[in-house]
Amino acid sequence: MTFLRVIGFSLALLGFYALYAHTLPQVEPDLSEPEILATEGLDMPGMIALGEGLFTGKGTCTLCHNGMGRAPDTLAMDLAVTFPERLLDANYSGVAAGGDGAQAVESYIRESMLEPSAFVVPGFGKKGTNDAVSPMPVVDAPPIELAPVEINAVIAFLQDRAGLTPTVALPSAADTPEADAPAADEGLVEAPVTDAQSALDKFSCAACHDLEGSGADLGPALGGISMRMSRAGLMEAILDPNAEIATGFDAGLMPDTFGEDMHASELLLIVDYLMALPAPRPSDTPEDEGPASDAIDVIDAYGCAGCHDLEDSGADLGPALNGISARMDREQLITAITNPNATIADGFEADMMPDTFGDDISDAEMILLLDYLMKLPE
Ligand code: HEC
Ligand code: HEC
Ligand code: HEC
Repeated sequence: MTFLRVIGFSLALLGFYALYAHTLPQVEPDLSEPEILATEGLDMPGMIALGEGLFTGKGTCTLCHNGMGRAPDTLAMDLAVTFPERLLDANYSGVAAGGDGAQAVESYIRESMLEPSAFVVPGFGKKGTNDAVSPMPVVDAPPIELAPVEINAVIAFLQDRAGLTPTVALPSAADTPEADAPAADEGLVEAPVTDAQSALDKFSCAACHDLEGSGADLGPALGGISMRMSRAGLMEAILDPNAEIATGFDAGLMPDTFGEDMHASELLLIVDYLMALPAPRPSDTPEDEGPASDAIDVIDAYGCAGCHDLEDSGADLGPALNGISARMDREQLITAITNPNATIADGFEADMMPDTFGDDISDAEMILLLDYLMKLPE
């Protein structure tokens, strides 16, 4: 069944590319171009969100900058205080000193990314160099290779986290390689579309996701995605889809070229649209679509109502789940379902609720279930 669907899809995709190639023969992706998002028109909140996505995604900063001691836990410290102090340290050997406040913080972060050895945080230097050489990779060279505008976005994100007003420049047309192409090169520069629907159509999101009623299920349903993902997380999921794979879905299926192909304005349209997309109501889905199409079907399939008072079953082997959203957020709810013995509800027994749901419930089913349970009235 799934196999047939995939073949059907591949044919559709081939058709799509054939058509694409046929109608727009002059539009050819230039693979020598570095991966960069067309950022013109991005505002400061957009830069901050992009920076956050880069920090955890393409920039790979969190590989080292986490709480595990490999590098300073940058997100956990008060940068507004610490970084200006570093500039005054006797061991500081860079050229960023001299600025004040937010400006000094910008200079220090920029230098840390481009000249990491200008100041090595004590204890974090390369082994044997007595903290003279930083082990941090330079971020504007491979493999990280952030573009200047991306470096600014990361700085804006860190400044914002420190409670400072970002001082970096907003991207200009010059930051976008496509915009550098002379206007005479007609056909090479595709004008960005100006509404969310056209943007979704342009990138065929609905071919794989159930959007605009397409019913596609090669990728997860995106209804109610704002409850599972932050804006920055959503941007990252679109720009760098293989950084994290949604449970129950295949890696490598979602195109990883949107970062190159999308205009920033298009990305913002899509993100605004998806963040506002309501969760599907159980009744929106036709009942005859198979087990995963409807929250009630999911509940029936896994026997939740046999123990919990759901669908008026009156069962009381487990706690009533009415108004559960007041006691738990989505994360906690997922844990309660997939790892029921992690915490035991007051007055109930451990090892009663099956602990196999984590393996058995598909991602799509889990989303339906969560959407349903989070809306159960008191
Ligand atoms: C391979 C590990 C690694 C990666 C990846 C990495 N860093 Fe670092 N970074 C370090 C280490 C180790 C230090 C401490 C030594 C030093 O001061 O240079 C450091 C220092 C820094 C500092 C100075 C911290 C301070 O407390 O003074 C900043 C700012 C920084 N990194 C930003 C980044 C950003 C932004 C990224 C992603 C674009 C990144 N780093 C990626 C290892 C890494
Ligand atoms: C060829 C199929 C395909 C196309 C086209 C596609 N996606 Fe995806 N998408 C997937 C698959 C498969 C996943 C799950 C695997 C993963 O996380 O990478 C996914 C994951 C996602 C996620 C993460 C969802 C989650 O629950 O974690 C988001 C958000 C997303 N896609 C948005 C989009 C947007 C927006 C577009 C259009 C610009 C798009 N996708 C186009 C197949 C596709
Ligand atoms: C065999 C009986 C049984 C089945 C089937 C069962 N549960 Fe439970 N559930 C329990 C019991 C008993 C508890 C309380 C003990 C605990 O927290 O593990 C519980 C706890 C929970 C909690 C935590 C409630 C709270 O207030 O802390 C949630 C949420 C939950 N179940 C949801 C589900 C869902 C969704 C399903 C179906 C996919 C399901 N359960 C199926 C017996 C069951």
